[in-house]
Amino acid sequence: MAQAWAFFLLALFSFSSYVSKLFVCSRNGEGSFLCARSPQVPSIASERYRTAYHFQPPKNWMNDPNGPMYYNGIYHSFYQYNPHGALWGDIVWGHAVSTDLVNWIILEPAIERDTPGDINGCWTGSATILPGGQPIVIYTGGDAENHQVQNIMLPKNRSDPYLREWTKAGNNPVLQLVGPGFNSSQFRDPTTGWIGPDGLWRIAIGAEVNGYGAALLYKSEDFLNWTRVDHPLYSSNASGMWECPDFFAVLPGNNGGLDLSTVIPEGAKHVLKVSLDQCDKYMIGVYDLKRDAFSPDTVLDDRRLWLKIDYGNYYASKSFFDSKNSRRIIWGWTNESDSSSDDVAKGWAGIYAIPRAIWLDSDAKQLLQWPVDEIESLRGNEINHQGLELNKGDLFEIKGIDTTQADVEIDFELTSTDDAEPFDPSWLLDAEKHCREAGASVHGGVGPFGLVILASDDMEEHTVLHFRVYKSQQKYMILMCSDLRRSSLRPELYTPAYGGFFEFDLEKERKISLRTLIDRSAVESFGGGGRLCIIARVYPVALADERRTHMYAFNNGSTTVKVPQLKAWSMMTAQVNVKKG
Ligand SMILES: *[C@@H]1O[C@H](CO)[C@@H](O)[C@H](O)[C@H]1NC(C)=O
Ligand SMILES: *[C@@H]1O[C@H](CO)[C@@H](O)[C@H](O)[C@H]1NC(C)=O
Ligand SMILES: *[C@@H]1O[C@H](CO)[C@@H](O)[C@H](O)[C@H]1NC(C)=O
Ligand SMILES: *[C@@H]1O[C@H](CO)[C@@H](O)[C@H](O)[C@H]1NC(C)=O
Ligand SMILES: *[C@@H]1O[C@H](CO)[C@@H](O)[C@H](O)[C@H]1NC(C)=O
Ligand SMILES: *[C@@H]1O[C@H](CO)[C@@H](O)[C@H](O)[C@H]1NC(C)=O
Repeated sequence: MAQAWAFFLLALFSFSSYVSKLFVCSRNGEGSFLCARSPQVPSIASERYRTAYHFQPPKNWMNDPNGPMYYNGIYHSFYQYNPHGALWGDIVWGHAVSTDLVNWIILEPAIERDTPGDINGCWTGSATILPGGQPIVIYTGGDAENHQVQNIMLPKNRSDPYLREWTKAGNNPVLQLVGPGFNSSQFRDPTTGWIGPDGLWRIAIGAEVNGYGAALLYKSEDFLNWTRVDHPLYSSNASGMWECPDFFAVLPGNNGGLDLSTVIPEGAKHVLKVSLDQCDKYMIGVYDLKRDAFSPDTVLDDRRLWLKIDYGNYYASKSFFDSKNSRRIIWGWTNESDSSSDDVAKGWAGIYAIPRAIWLDSDAKQLLQWPVDEIESLRGNEINHQGLELNKGDLFEIKGIDTTQADVEIDFELTSTDDAEPFDPSWLLDAEKHCREAGASVHGGVGPFGLVILASDDMEEHTVLHFRVYKSQQKYMILMCSDLRRSSLRPELYTPAYGGFFEFDLEKERKISLRTLIDRSAVESFGGGGRLCIIARVYPVALADERRTHMYAFNNGSTTVKVPQLKAWSMMTAQVNVKKG
């Protein structure tokens, strides 16, 4: 049904590519309005909105990443996938493999819902590699009564380099949740396993206990027979249900990842990530081996203050240890910001953020993330500027690359911080509100400065990435925003001004860096060397129209900002994103 509908719409939209008309009015110098019969709004079904190097299947719906792993020279990405349409439904485990995390080969789905333990759904799960090199996956199923239960699956043939076929364990489901305070429809998304000092395997599973968010803890000797530990790994009364927990060890200031199935070194910290409120939040703390429980370094009762993996459109992320390059890699799901009918018209919905290396800052206060180096293999035509100076009101056009498919690295150096305005801690409760109130056209002491991207000739459409610097006691707080409010003239889009704050030692590092990966409808930005990440989705009319889009560096703060270095590259198209017939 959904499929037929999608096909009909696609056919309709591709034959009449312009579906609505729009007048655009702009104020001219004399204060009166000029209304032009503007470029009509082309169909959302434009191929130009498909990403060129972010992972997305050739068509249809995708959500949570599942069971990422590196095994025998191959990276595996499984994903919640609807083989029949661009809306959520009929979920199977899609499967893709890669040798470089950039170019992917799409395989047949690994599993579908066809056993008593998953007859009503095969949802999210994680992979673990057991000693002796046995990959094993534990995932959530919906059983005949629609309870959430956990199941095991194993590759059918470990000699098949792509591990194409998977077998479900005979004793599925291996875990059910019953008992007072529990809710069997709130029990899902098991983590990768780790080994405790007693040599037993452990996993955590997202749940709601007495209405509060919890990561339930389970132990097993053989990964098949699991027993619940009588206390959770961690729980908090600051929120309800936690989805997609991720639990891993990190060494402060060390970007080499740690393998959870080996002994965790002295001095390591642990991170618990959970998905809630449409974003991925995390806590840094210690894994107390005596209590067999996680203990955050700082307990924040107000969950609006919890740190986020990404301050934009990013959910259900999962990390894994990459034994090839000894690093931890994380990837998450970024949904569309258009309407469901737009998704049906496009025939696809959902992408993954670029795989990022993830590690702990040397002060152990926050995680840092950076796109995996492999992505640089797509860099083509390069441009380079040095020694720019941006005074208040300056707009410097960055030319010579494909502004719709680019990797941009820019350093902003402050000439002074004397005019930095005082920081108000209450802003931390709602950084998006602050981004809306203190947008790129609101002049400040230090900032706003940053990049304007995907801008149409007349600037009617543009997306802004900007920073502001505030003084807070001994340190500085940096606001970073990804403001989509003017990103498109298209109706019915979700266009927030995403944002967050990070602490910065401006005495030590006078430069604030911004790296932005522009990939048609995806804009993924890394501020302050990976201290704050924001991925967003934009659908400018100019892009679908194949009109030129522009990119500028700007400053609207009273303090002059230098740009000692600006490099940008056009990005080539990765393999998976080449649409097949
Ligand atoms: C397992 O995969 C290998 C490599 O593809 C193949 O040679 C072998 O025949 C397969 N074994 C079975 C039982 O299918
Ligand atoms: C269990 O969770 C489901 C889904 O959130 C909810 O609809 C239901 O009311 C809950 N049941 C109880 C007993 O709390
Ligand atoms: C499962 O593990 C528990 C606890 O270790 C043990 O008591 C039980 O006998 C095991 N069951 C099976 C079927 O191995
Ligand atoms: C929530 O938990 C904290 C301990 O983490 C406790 O101090 C507080 O009283 C609890 N609040 C409620 C409403 O239960
Ligand atoms: C997906 O997109 C919509 C806006 O289009 C947003 O409201 C929603 O919260 C997003 N995230 C998730 C995890 O569904
Ligand atoms: C800078 O501020 C001016 C005046 O408010 C505004 O017109 C302009 O659009 C701003 N620049 C950017 C890049 O937003």
